[in-house]
Amino acid sequence: MFNFNLFDVKLETNTIGRNFIYLDEVDSTNSFILDKKNKVYEDGTVVFAEKQTRGRGRKNRIWYSEKGLNLNFSILITNKYFFDKKFNLLNLGVSLAVANSIERLSSIQTSVKWPNDILIKGKKTAGILLEAISQGSKIEKLVIGIGVNINQTFFNGEFNYPPTSIRLECRENIEREKFLAEILNHFEDMLLKIISKPESIPADWRNKCDMMGKRITITQENKTLSGIFEDIDDNGFLILRTQKKKEKIHFGDVGLG
Ligand code: BTN
Repeated sequence: MFNFNLFDVKLETNTIGRNFIYLDEVDSTNSFILDKKNKVYEDGTVVFAEKQTRGRGRKNRIWYSEKGLNLNFSILITNKYFFDKKFNLLNLGVSLAVANSIERLSSIQTSVKWPNDILIKGKKTAGILLEAISQGSKIEKLVIGIGVNINQTFFNGEFNYPPTSIRLECRENIEREKFLAEILNHFEDMLLKIISKPESIPADWRNKCDMMGKRITITQENKTLSGIFEDIDDNGFLILRTQKKKEKIHFGDVGLG
């Protein structure tokens, strides 16, 4: 099971993960933070679970992950600076933090898929779910849920994108504790970058995205849009070139073709 000391010696952050809540089983680590009765208030708190019984993905999808093999955790952000307009930059930044951590510890190449999936050889190895807690129309807190497939080698369930794990791609047993610390270290650096050099986030993200310039289809709730993935703008929105015009896309699932 999870060796806290192994994680702790690798953690180099000031705030992120310094308050660490370890759970054997929970419905969802995002829901745990969102639920007021659990009284999670401290900025940078990380809630980690070996097993989620109702792990949630984007668009109300289920996030499947076998017990004890992967990383399923959520981070609480209370710093108002990251609310509102920074939401989409955070989406990009978190996916970069995870992608860079994978590359640092495993020497496998990763790519990112808009807005925040992490792929290895075109298959999804990690997903991110950002949620906000609001009081009236005001955001109070952000919860960033991250699921990374580390040591799982068999996937059963319904997936909108083919899944893989780091173990399947690099054939080594990976220490989850080291990986978690690495992601949190990169995550904190990324938050500082959003403050000091926000333009570097879309720039770094572009370098890791191999879908740009290609024909894509974007699926939204009640429609699909097709065109060329032209770029992302400074706020992290996708710019789609259709036959008639350029459109700014705020949400949706992106697929090639
Ligand atoms: C997606 O790709 O659709 C997002 C998946 C996010 C999964 C993580 S696992 C930890 C956190 N708790 C949840 O219920 N979901 C996120």
